[in-house]
Amino acid sequence: TTALLFTVSSWSKDKPVPESYIFPPETRPGNLIVPTCKTIPVIDLCNAEGRNRTDIIQQILKASQEYGFFQVVNHGISENLMNESMDVFSELFEMPDEDKVILYSEDPKKSCRLLTSSLNYDREKVHQWRDNLIHPCHPLQDCIKHWPQKPIRYREVVAALSIEAKKLGLRILELVSEGLGLESGYFGDKLSEALHLFVNHYPPCPDPSLTLGITKHCDPNLLTILHQGDVQGLQIFNNEEWIGVEPLPNAFVVNIGNQLQIISNNKLKSGEHRVVTNSRVARTTAAFFIAPSEDSIIEPAISLVGEASVYRAFEYKDFLLDYLSHIGSNEVVLGRFESQSLNN
Ligand code: OGA
Ligand code: NI
Repeated sequence: TTALLFTVSSWSKDKPVPESYIFPPETRPGNLIVPTCKTIPVIDLCNAEGRNRTDIIQQILKASQEYGFFQVVNHGISENLMNESMDVFSELFEMPDEDKVILYSEDPKKSCRLLTSSLNYDREKVHQWRDNLIHPCHPLQDCIKHWPQKPIRYREVVAALSIEAKKLGLRILELVSEGLGLESGYFGDKLSEALHLFVNHYPPCPDPSLTLGITKHCDPNLLTILHQGDVQGLQIFNNEEWIGVEPLPNAFVVNIGNQLQIISNNKLKSGEHRVVTNSRVARTTAAFFIAPSEDSIIEPAISLVGEASVYRAFEYKDFLLDYLSHIGSNEVVLGRFESQSLNN
């Protein structure tokens, strides 16, 4: 089980924060008190396909322009399925080392794997206070056989949740496309073909003022559906300040990914966010990343271009490569795909 000793979950108990996990003063959270009077909009999806449609679309567009983030309630995914999934995810990280070590891998080609800090562990200057399990969820029949076999309910419960999360994402994308004046189904098919799950686990940390669970970033994909459980930790950067995202029972946090910002020609924005740690309890979250297939051509929708297209056309896989080599530098990455970019 030597490999597992690298995960934060296995070594972090009762030790001071190691040097390699301490962020420099300009990026560490420092003062963890963030304004609680401000938070992101909560949108009730009840009757989104009926009498509340116009109103809900306006709320989604406004939140996506101002924050790039919102929460949804009455989204149709059962409370029971949400709770069962979170139990299974927590149980996974609480399993004994011998059950977890078989999931641990540093091989990026492995479809399902447990890793620590980030995909960039060897190259990053400071490590993140996080372990995570990552795997694709689509096409289900191909990828499910690589998912964990323990906890024994993992495959059944997570398959059900991933199907529901995808449906919810497509419903929201349909509301977005209507709000933007795009044709129905614009984000269907290839633009939303891929689905990846990141189950994040942030063990308690002895000094949360020095560490981060995830550094400031935007998600590179189209749309993210996050179940953040009932522990605080997610913060978004808005108007030059960090604001906390309140955990709400049975809500999902939704955020605009880089591709949706690009396709909307900057009418919507992908919000920058990070995760802070806490010293009391472990926090486990599940992020479903709805993404284009790797060979999709991405470009601003013609009807939204107006005078000028902010971005040039590119293949999604090229964006991902740039994203991974410039983690956290959102403006740099987006800049490389602008029409005027010298790096075309
Ligand atoms: C992510 C992310 C937030 C969280 O996985 O990209 O931003 O609260 N997660 O775990
Ligand atoms: Ni994120």
